[in-house]
Amino acid sequence: MDSQAGPEVAELIGRSNRLGADPRNTNYAGGNTSAKGTVTDPVTGQPAELLWVKGSGGDLGTLTPAGLAVLRLDRLRALPAVYPGPDREDEMVAAFDFCLHGLGGVAGSGLAERGAAPSIDTAMHGLVDAAHVDHLHPDAGIALATAADGEQLTRDCFGGRVAWVPWRRPGFQLGLDIAAVRRDNPGGIGVILGGHGITAWGATSAECEANSLEIIATAQRYLDTHGKPEPFGPVVPGLEPLSDAERRARAARLAPVLRGLASTDRRQVGHFTDSAVVLDFLARQRHPELAARGTSCPDHFLRTKVAPLVLDLPPSAPLPDVIARLGELHADYRQQYRAYYERHAGSDSPPMRGADPAIVLVPGVGMFSFGADKQTARVAGEFYVNAINVMHGAEAVSAYAPISEAEKFRIEYWALEEAKLARRPKPRPLAGRIALVTGGGSGIGRATARRLAAEGACVVVADRDGPAAAEAAAELGSADVAAAVTVDVTDEDAVAAALDAAALAFGGVDLVVNNAGLSISRPLLETTAADWDVQHAVMARGSFLVSREAARLLAAQRMGGDIIYVCSKNAVFAGPSNVAYGAAKADQAHQVRLLAAELGELGIRVNGINPDGVVRGSGLFAGGWGASRAAVYGVPEEELGAFYAQRTLLKREVLPDHVAAAVVALTAGELSLTTGLLIPVDGGVAAAFLR
Ligand SMILES: NC(=O)c1ccc[n+]([C@@H]2O[C@H](COP(=O)([O-])OP(=O)(O)OC[C@H]3O[C@@H](n4cnc5c(N)ncnc54)[C@H](O)[C@@H]3O)[C@@H](O)[C@H]2O)c1
Repeated sequence: MDSQAGPEVAELIGRSNRLGADPRNTNYAGGNTSAKGTVTDPVTGQPAELLWVKGSGGDLGTLTPAGLAVLRLDRLRALPAVYPGPDREDEMVAAFDFCLHGLGGVAGSGLAERGAAPSIDTAMHGLVDAAHVDHLHPDAGIALATAADGEQLTRDCFGGRVAWVPWRRPGFQLGLDIAAVRRDNPGGIGVILGGHGITAWGATSAECEANSLEIIATAQRYLDTHGKPEPFGPVVPGLEPLSDAERRARAARLAPVLRGLASTDRRQVGHFTDSAVVLDFLARQRHPELAARGTSCPDHFLRTKVAPLVLDLPPSAPLPDVIARLGELHADYRQQYRAYYERHAGSDSPPMRGADPAIVLVPGVGMFSFGADKQTARVAGEFYVNAINVMHGAEAVSAYAPISEAEKFRIEYWALEEAKLARRPKPRPLAGRIALVTGGGSGIGRATARRLAAEGACVVVADRDGPAAAEAAAELGSADVAAAVTVDVTDEDAVAAALDAAALAFGGVDLVVNNAGLSISRPLLETTAADWDVQHAVMARGSFLVSREAARLLAAQRMGGDIIYVCSKNAVFAGPSNVAYGAAKADQAHQVRLLAAELGELGIRVNGINPDGVVRGSGLFAGGWGASRAAVYGVPEEELGAFYAQRTLLKREVLPDHVAAAVVALTAGELSLTTGLLIPVDGGVAAAFLR
């Protein structure tokens, strides 16, 4: 049975995608759009009026029919008769489920046409008497919406074409309010929603889109032509941005410190933004006062918290002073957040979700934003850039006056939001963790990077072979999942730069895998000093350098951590013709014990894995080592994997994924009290038993 999506659906998706693609129109995942149309009811054969509306979650820029909820308009229009009033408006969200058309989805959109959950804004879309409705969060519109005299400015800016609706929490009553404005102003094209955003409508999809864009462009033009210059005040000498290189160097030092502080209640991933908008705001005289007024749009509070933490030292301050001051400011922030919660929480409020800041502003350097995963952290930063634009616009023509603290609290701790949070899937075992895998461009390292990402970690793929690292990172997903760095682990400065890159990409590091390696199999008398040196440079020295830089970062971050060494059976077993490789592996294996002993007091666990015979997928074997090992053992090269399997106790071939699984076993929580351990992943080789 067809749920008969009309041409309205294709128009709605096209319009939504166009509007959502331009950040001037709405913030990420903010806003929603709808269309109304008539289809033939598959049960009665009679015409039925439907509402297609973007459901809860998702983003307009990437909206597909699967993200729509489909509801019966006759039933939606009947809801005002049973509406119990503003105090109980949240109950109306459950009523939307009784208005769904079939399973509430669009035919052909998947999951047997089950639609997205209707959002709280469904009321405004259903009740406004127009075929097409857009609700958006444009910076220019919110600037008017949060200006102290927004109502007057709206009149000046739009004449009667756009009306003012005073602040009201999103919900059924707001839908009724907007519907009344629409009814009373037949010539109007939309409204500015005080403290919130805009809503526009039209008889056709094209008219609705044009009306949305007209409101946004008119608001922006008004701000540009009527606004005073420098609404954030003059640049304060000494708060100007550091040079690119200095800024990034300082950001790399501060990121782990801040991530550690921001993770006091819950592990967070970080994002760093040093765009011109952020640096300009932080260089200006009024930034502390304005930042303290908090963010603006209801979408923001859950992501950015009501206000950011702002460092009150210039970029020239010595780093240790900055770190000490950030510690003090963080303690104050937590105290103030708790006081805010206690000022407003009622007996039915959800428990406090954590008192750490989500946004930290460092003049001259940039903005650090935090979230449970990279995407959340990045979007929190984007939202704060929206907030800066909004403050700029509002202050240019008036005074920035966001909704009251009590209203912000009602949004942040709204039972409906709490229910949405509770519905989120359980986080994966390594969610929130940041891993760096050396030699991640090939073989065991690549399999490990893939597995760590699959378990929820953000992964920095570090390899001397830059294109291989980039390819491996791209395979894992977007920049929210993985980053690539080109690094020769024998180079001290390059290793430090790789950890800086991790700090800038994700806020720090929790889990380092020393995997980069190479092997040269030669008898003693044929082993050159160069053979010896390169084996020891990459594996013994390389993993020492990586562990040392990682330990510096982990110590600054104060969240513990894991260092894993991919050693080898040959660290234990005196394999034939293998002096340089075997000795370098034995060195790595002893680093595991030495560093486990030394770093335990920082909560850093150091463990190792002794693989053997990982032929398939390994670049080591492909690059000549396979041929030489095959020659040593007297078997054809293509049978080397099978040969290794046959000499094991389990008669099983070892694959890169088996080693990756051991990394997860050591780091995902089940072995949380284990350090200094070497785990064989070799199919069982009695000669390499550790005890
Ligand atoms: N394959 C096996 O049977 C086996 C057995 C025991 C131990 N290991 C160890 O596992 C690790 C990975 O081996 P693999 O089999 O996946 O090999 P591989 O050749 O497929 O991968 C090694 C990666 O390390 C990178 N690398 C080499 N030198 C580097 C340097 N100086 N800086 C940064 N990156 C560098 C290479 O570019 C490559 O991407 C090595 O340490 C190896 O000794 C492998």
